[in-house]
Amino acid sequence: MTALQTQSSEVVIENLSLSFGATEVLKKIDLVISPGEFFSFLGPSGSGKSTLLRAIAGFGPTPKGRILINGEDVAKLPPWERNVGMVFQSYALWPHMSVARNVAFGLEERKLPRAEIDRRVMEALELVDLVDYAQRRPSQLSGGQQQRVALARTIVIEPRVLLLDEPLSNLDANLRVQMRRDILALQRKLKLTTIFVTHDQEEANTTSQRMAVLNNGILQQVGAPMELYDNPANSFVAGFLGTANILQGAVKSLGDETKFVTAAGLQLPHISAAPDAHSIAIRPQNVHLRAPGTGGALAMAGEVAEVEFLGSILRYAATLGGETLLVDHSHTPGEPVFAVGDTVDVVLDADKFIML
Ligand SMILES: Nc1ncnc2c1ncn2[C@@H]1O[C@H](COP(=O)(O)OP(=O)(O)OP(=O)(O)O)[C@@H](O)[C@H]1O
Ligand SMILES: [Mg+2]
Repeated sequence: MTALQTQSSEVVIENLSLSFGATEVLKKIDLVISPGEFFSFLGPSGSGKSTLLRAIAGFGPTPKGRILINGEDVAKLPPWERNVGMVFQSYALWPHMSVARNVAFGLEERKLPRAEIDRRVMEALELVDLVDYAQRRPSQLSGGQQQRVALARTIVIEPRVLLLDEPLSNLDANLRVQMRRDILALQRKLKLTTIFVTHDQEEANTTSQRMAVLNNGILQQVGAPMELYDNPANSFVAGFLGTANILQGAVKSLGDETKFVTAAGLQLPHISAAPDAHSIAIRPQNVHLRAPGTGGALAMAGEVAEVEFLGSILRYAATLGGETLLVDHSHTPGEPVFAVGDTVDVVLDADKFIML
């Protein structure tokens, strides 16, 4: 059996802006997505992820700027001339057609020979492990199986790019994890350039080679998940990826010491590489609470304001110098737990501060 033809296309977005009426919802986006890459658009609700994905597919208002697929500007082409495949959050399957007919539909529209349609449908169903379900109706399938039909229906057209808009959000937590692995395995097998939209950072982190973080239609930063987490470009990215204590303030000379002084007056050690920093991001795992008098020379006096047990971690909120910091301790059974109101030594890993 011949495998489905797959293409690893490059997608380049140049100076792309898009408005709904007078409201500009995408602002001067520049992006290069490499052939065969698994790439995510990540951002909060309303940040423009779906609008950007739909612009690549050809849905929605015509944008300003260029969208190049393998060098060809498709920005003004109708969707059916772009040969990209899109999977939506709602699977949008035809309820009255069998699984096989649903998958065949796009090929029948293209009036391909019957034998080729049958061959490609079987290959696509095999890739998503649904050959035994070919004659069922969508209503006779689970949510995860329906999602796999939607995937099969998209890859069967041999798209140049696979676009996935929150494809897992209707599935329960365990199935989401399984499906994201399945999607990744399929993408690796086909080497298909894939753009995945999600507001779930764990989903983006675990699947993507690189991702773009969007906020208010503005591209904030592009990079590998760990790169963005460790070196966020601004306080939005620092706060959106993982949890961060973000404190506003300024670098000040106090006697012969240089400190970062927060708005509330808390004095923190300052990283000399960032003389102009106006905020500091501190991950909760880089703050530690110790019994009073045991935190060492650099410890600061604080008080426990909240305790939350999250399973593998204990998350505290501690107040010190007018600021409140989240503190994560990994949970070990039997380890003493501080209570609300306890006085504590607060120890900060100053070498892990992110100056912004
Ligand atoms: N058809 C439309 N008409 C007018 N405004 C729209 C339309 N579609 C989207 N918008 C606006 O564009 C902005 C971006 O929306 P978009 O759907 O791209 O966000 P998103 O990042 O995908 O959010 P979510 O995570 O909630 O899906 C929002 O402010 C939204 O209200
Ligand atoms: Mg969306």
